[in-house]
Amino acid sequence: MSRLVTATIDTAALQHNLQQVRKQLSADVRVVAVIKADGYGHGLVTVAHALYQAELYAVGCLDEAAQLRKASIEKPILLLEGFEGREELQAIAQLQLQTVIHSEQQWQLLNTTILPQPITIWLKVDTGMHRLGFTPQRAEQLLPLLEGHPSVEQVVLISHFANADHIEHPLNQRQQQAFSHCCAQSSSARSFSNSAALLTRSAAHFQFVRPGIMLYGSSPLQGQSAASLGLKPALTLQAPLIAIQTIEPGAAVGYGSSWQAQRETRLGVVAIGYGHGYPRRLPSGTPVLIRGQRVPLAGRVSMDMMTVDLTALPEAIVGDLVTLWGEGLPVDEIAQQASTISYELLCQLTSRVERIAQ
Ligand SMILES: Cc1ncc(COP(=O)(O)O)c(C=O)c1O
Repeated sequence: MSRLVTATIDTAALQHNLQQVRKQLSADVRVVAVIKADGYGHGLVTVAHALYQAELYAVGCLDEAAQLRKASIEKPILLLEGFEGREELQAIAQLQLQTVIHSEQQWQLLNTTILPQPITIWLKVDTGMHRLGFTPQRAEQLLPLLEGHPSVEQVVLISHFANADHIEHPLNQRQQQAFSHCCAQSSSARSFSNSAALLTRSAAHFQFVRPGIMLYGSSPLQGQSAASLGLKPALTLQAPLIAIQTIEPGAAVGYGSSWQAQRETRLGVVAIGYGHGYPRRLPSGTPVLIRGQRVPLAGRVSMDMMTVDLTALPEAIVGDLVTLWGEGLPVDEIAQQASTISYELLCQLTSRVERIAQ
């Protein structure tokens, strides 16, 4: 039996969004498509194939890179968090990957391991996010050591904004200055911008940009819709209506009886819940789309089901497909209702959801 809940992946939308990225860039800037976390929940290999026009892919860990190589993807792949231990470092060389180094342990391993062939190292500089990376001073010391190292083919300097989505945040400018001043005499290539920064800070494009979320058709900028940025949703989440009943005024619905009918209500049951990754914390009133019309969530989301008020949509019938987000209903809007960001909603879809690439 096929699964009831589907995430339709629109590969043309992924390609369109990559073109929107390119429109922001001068011709010599290369695009590192960030496809970690299973392609932000869209399916790692599907996304990689769709985004074949990107120059590199970036993933979170060795397993993800190995999956891509197993799928015969030969493009350069960057490991954003580097490696743990000598075996992983050897595997990086064998799989012809590129890797970030962000810690003294990683530098020590690299410095004491003979690799079968030299690899490209992305030297992570902590310019103010204080998550991963070397201080700018330490990066200045390491850069010449890396550049002359027999295991190193090329060095790219990399850093990451903490607040790029918040255009006016004062740390953005401070980070950008710190990055520009770091190794200022070096001609090494650099990479700084995620989606939000590549849209708003052309001075931070450097040689490689690293878009993630905008490739998937969600807005990286607070207060600006994806549509207004020319982006198209790449994932549409749908489940069927499996039951409809009419309840009396005053009747309560679902766990905790948190929603009460104010009038005679036509109530629909949709076959999706938090067991699929549709957040339990979404409040009554959150929209879903049926037959192109919005109707509100009514009552608490349970593990496999949720209930919606169909009173304003008498033509809805059992078997109708309900869109939870995607085409016609921006994931950013649902994320806002859940007090989170689209990244989380996309990444937390579970394996019960069947991904269908189109
Ligand atoms: C180091 C790094 N670069 C780029 C990205 C892509 O960011 P975004 O999805 O906001 O474009 C991420 C995502 O978390 C990241 O961790």
